[in-house]
Amino acid sequence: MITIPYLTALTTYFSYGLLFAFGQFRDFFRKIYDWWKSSDLQGYAPICLGLEDFYIRRLYLRIQDCFGRPISSAPDAWFDVVERYSNDNNKTLKRTTNVSRCLNLGSYNYLGFAAADEYCTPRVIESLKKFSPSTCSARVDGGTTSLHNELEECVAKFVGKPAAVVFGMGYVTNSAILPVLIGKGGLIISDSLNHNSIVNGARGSGATIRVFQHNTPAHLEKVLKEQIAEGQPRIHRPWKKIIVVVEGIYSMEGELCKLPEIVEVCKKYKAYVYLDEAHSIGAIGKSGRGVCELLGVDTANVDIMMGTFTKSFGSCGGYIAGSKELIRYLKYTCPAHLYATSISPPAAQQIISSLKVILGEDGSKRGAQKLASIRDNSNFFRSELQKMGFEVLGDNDSPIMPIMLYNPAKIPAFSRECLKHNVAVVTVAFPATPLLLARARICISAAHTREDLLKALEVISKVGDLVGIKYMPVEPMKLQNGKPTKKED
Ligand SMILES: Cc1ncc(COP(=O)(O)O)c(C=O)c1O
Ligand SMILES: *[C@@H]1O[C@H](CO)[C@@H](O)[C@H](O)[C@H]1NC(C)=O
Ligand SMILES: *[C@@H]1O[C@H](CO)[C@@H](O)[C@H](O)[C@H]1NC(C)=O
Repeated sequence: MITIPYLTALTTYFSYGLLFAFGQFRDFFRKIYDWWKSSDLQGYAPICLGLEDFYIRRLYLRIQDCFGRPISSAPDAWFDVVERYSNDNNKTLKRTTNVSRCLNLGSYNYLGFAAADEYCTPRVIESLKKFSPSTCSARVDGGTTSLHNELEECVAKFVGKPAAVVFGMGYVTNSAILPVLIGKGGLIISDSLNHNSIVNGARGSGATIRVFQHNTPAHLEKVLKEQIAEGQPRIHRPWKKIIVVVEGIYSMEGELCKLPEIVEVCKKYKAYVYLDEAHSIGAIGKSGRGVCELLGVDTANVDIMMGTFTKSFGSCGGYIAGSKELIRYLKYTCPAHLYATSISPPAAQQIISSLKVILGEDGSKRGAQKLASIRDNSNFFRSELQKMGFEVLGDNDSPIMPIMLYNPAKIPAFSRECLKHNVAVVTVAFPATPLLLARARICISAAHTREDLLKALEVISKVGDLVGIKYMPVEPMKLQNGKPTKKED
């Protein structure tokens, strides 16, 4: 749980209140003006109006220069950020031909495979020449190349399941698979902070959805017990099946899933476990096999293992791994397998090659070195940030470390000041986080050198003082009984 300081909560509410009030005030006059000027709606309902439109115009547009910054190079440890300018108070932004070379603290390039790699890149280029960028066909038609078969075998072996199926997009892997696995009469119990792709997959499935408190096995048990006693709504028949959905590392929190406890609870109540390892596969565990390896959970106890190739493997797409029966069933029934063009062959080759490096099958020790660096880099960076007095979320070993900003004015201030010092950071706010809990999200990579990290720390510390986000007391005594320094014992 995040305990937001009282004064910070107050000023944050005040800031949003002020923005809201001013926005509404201006909208009121705009409406009168529009009504006065014309009636150009001609019987159509407005296509985008309402609170979301209000939020975009009155809050987001004020700071939109901090988002969607165009990049003109590979997402390596350093990358080129295209400079933009505005003639209308940032309402519209125009690109220049200038770029600024920035330290990249935003991409999910955990193992550093996202830029040219001596083993992967030549093989990806070969596959591009041989297979072309697209198969122009669905998997069941002409879209299964030998690469696709090889990829599925590699992935299943790597994650420790009998079989796997891959998709062209990680988001679709969740949102299209959940509706195949479960439907009306079924129950999905979802962590309150699960990714949007899970939320939409669950909604699309037609199953009943219950949410349990983020990463709280005791609450999961309570919900399971209640729901099993209640049964289906109105008719009270037993649920057709129950699936509990959790993530390996929570992408906005940097927290590890309490998987051993959750698996225990699910076993007790005979609920299936669906684990999304988008951020954990490849990035954590001694040999990169994710949260099961790190926390010592037998993969036989996780029924559906999902993950994406867009982070540690520097490619695109997602996978589901499970029993042979499950994967066969999915291949016969999942619309995203039957009707969508298959994953791009060079992207598939990138995954195969990066997996080989991770496993040491390329004949070098680079994979093991990358895994050691991501761990060392992450733990070093996290502990340094904490020593400086930032409020950092998440667990040790996790390469994601959110720094709490809270106040809406601090979002652009932090982002713009860092960029001025050639450090590119990602800031996230509502609706990706709760309104009060805006944050900057640092993603550490094995590609970062110690020098890079020291530069980043220097800049972030300076900007942190300027913007006023060192919320934590800095005496080492207090830090011990602060939060995140668990694990590793
Ligand atoms: C937990 C989780 N699941 C799924 C996805 C979607 O994956 P992709 O970006 O590969 O479509 C993400 C994306 O960041 C994620 O964080
Ligand atoms: C527009 O964005 C720039 C940074 O890109 C910032 O310095 C400036 O203050 C912004 N202007 C307004 C009116 O918000
Ligand atoms: C590009 O950068 C140079 C040097 O900083 C500057 O003089 C020039 O105006 C910039 N060009 C644009 C289009 O902003």
